[in-house]
Amino acid sequence: MRKKVIAGNWKMYKNAAETKAYFDMFLKEIDTDEKEVIIFPPFTSISSAVCMTVGSNVKIGAQNMHYEDCGAFTGEVSCGMINETGACYVLIGHSERRKYFNEKNETVNKKVSKALGENLIPVVCIGEDLSEREDGKTYEILFSQLTQGLKNISDAEKIIIAYEPIWAIGTGKTATDLQAEEACAKIREYLFSMFGDISDKIRILYGGSVNASNIKSLMSMANIDGVLVGGASLNSDFIKIVQYDK
Ligand code: PGA
Repeated sequence: MRKKVIAGNWKMYKNAAETKAYFDMFLKEIDTDEKEVIIFPPFTSISSAVCMTVGSNVKIGAQNMHYEDCGAFTGEVSCGMINETGACYVLIGHSERRKYFNEKNETVNKKVSKALGENLIPVVCIGEDLSEREDGKTYEILFSQLTQGLKNISDAEKIIIAYEPIWAIGTGKTATDLQAEEACAKIREYLFSMFGDISDKIRILYGGSVNASNIKSLMSMANIDGVLVGGASLNSDFIKIVQYDK
């Protein structure tokens, strides 16, 4: 049985004080140990988030990392530095990183490999944009992101994949349950061709305008093991999302 994952990507929102206030509110309401609940705050709020969540069932992750241990890479943060904060997950290849920071599949691959080597669990984001979907290229894009991004990776069972169609991110346009399920099922089939039986252990999340109203039906799909939530993870809606089955 794959453990369900409910993850919140805060992007560039919430400073350390806001992070503390959020967890004061959130942790009182959360009652779950059957799911993996992960929050990805900005780097400068990670320590505050880790402090607040010690002893709870909520885990913390970073939104990005560099694949080198150290060096002259102004503005970057290494896996070792992330580990030191107590965060244990890292988002890799989010579409905003790909779009605004020129992140390529080859870089994603180096980061995934490094993260696994340093015991950080990578949440690897893939997804097609609207024109790629309309041109019938969705699976070509997804499969090349997987082939290149996960090339020569061992320990693949630890990876979490987040399928996030770019046209659904921050737009209020969620993929329908069936569109999301179809893509996640195809991703699983493709992972089988890459990793064999191990693919059955890899969690596949859906992301893109997930909210308190659509969470339940998305989570009822056989190949959707969880969600990566942006906007709706910033407020108390995230409580309803985490407790979708209560
Ligand atoms: P959204 O963002 O839920 O605001 O669409 C999802 C994401 O970017 O991970």
